[in-house]
Amino acid sequence: MRATQIKAVTELPGARLIGRRINWYGRVTSTMDVARREASRGGSDGLVVVADEQTAGRGRHARPWLSAAGDDLLFSVALRPRGSETPQLSMLAGLAVAKAADRLAGVSSTIKWPNDVRVDGRKIGGILIETHVMGASTLAVMGVGLNVNMAPARWPEIAQTATSLRAVIGEPVDREHALTTVLGEMDALYERLRSGESLTAEWAGRIDTIGRDIELQFGDEVVRGRAESVDDAGGLVLRTSDGAARTFTAGEVTLQSAASRCSAPHGVENDG
Ligand code: BTN
Repeated sequence: MRATQIKAVTELPGARLIGRRINWYGRVTSTMDVARREASRGGSDGLVVVADEQTAGRGRHARPWLSAAGDDLLFSVALRPRGSETPQLSMLAGLAVAKAADRLAGVSSTIKWPNDVRVDGRKIGGILIETHVMGASTLAVMGVGLNVNMAPARWPEIAQTATSLRAVIGEPVDREHALTTVLGEMDALYERLRSGESLTAEWAGRIDTIGRDIELQFGDEVVRGRAESVDDAGGLVLRTSDGAARTFTAGEVTLQSAASRCSAPHGVENDG
């Protein structure tokens, strides 16, 4: 695969860290793998790898992430976080995508735990964080799939559960503008993390799962209860019917009052 700068945007103007370098490719396997490879060569804190198309895009739980070539935003950011920053990166990414979607589409997006960004209950973006210990430091790769111009009706399995910026506002959205909007939010949030601020309260304020009766699938276990809060590592605190509080770091949530599962796939993973 050849590194191709096929878009005008090669950096985020004024970037402090995230977006100082943007490598935009045509087709890759997954931007997660390209970002990891490029970052492991060193000197690339804040590097952004974007692709028009992925042949092996992946979502959480190793599900495929599908998107038609050129429709959406598919990118990964390579970071070298300090220890205390790592658990907050997922919050940072979810918040950045939510805030950018609000600005781009004039909406109030929410987050379904752990980190599906939604507009009117439909998934518009997903986050995947992968960390790699490299000697004494950690390389974190923060992946974002944001539905920009995708037509939900084109994907029957998610037509009712997914949306895109274009579907919300009724006109095409420029992907470069969408990218710089998300990266600007990320860079500003990362600056706050760097200064020692916690993003938990702001992230929690966006989570529509809190206060709801839910069913959570965690591996082979299914747990029912009320989602009470989130902790500083992004874990969900669930109060079960016997009064016990349990904290989960991962899982698939079904909102009980919604009756139907809210974790159906996009393509397969880009779900609502
Ligand atoms: C989710 O399951 O909701 C997370 C989806 C993350 C998809 C993005 S697309 C860009 C980056 N490359 C990948 O292979 N996955 C992430």
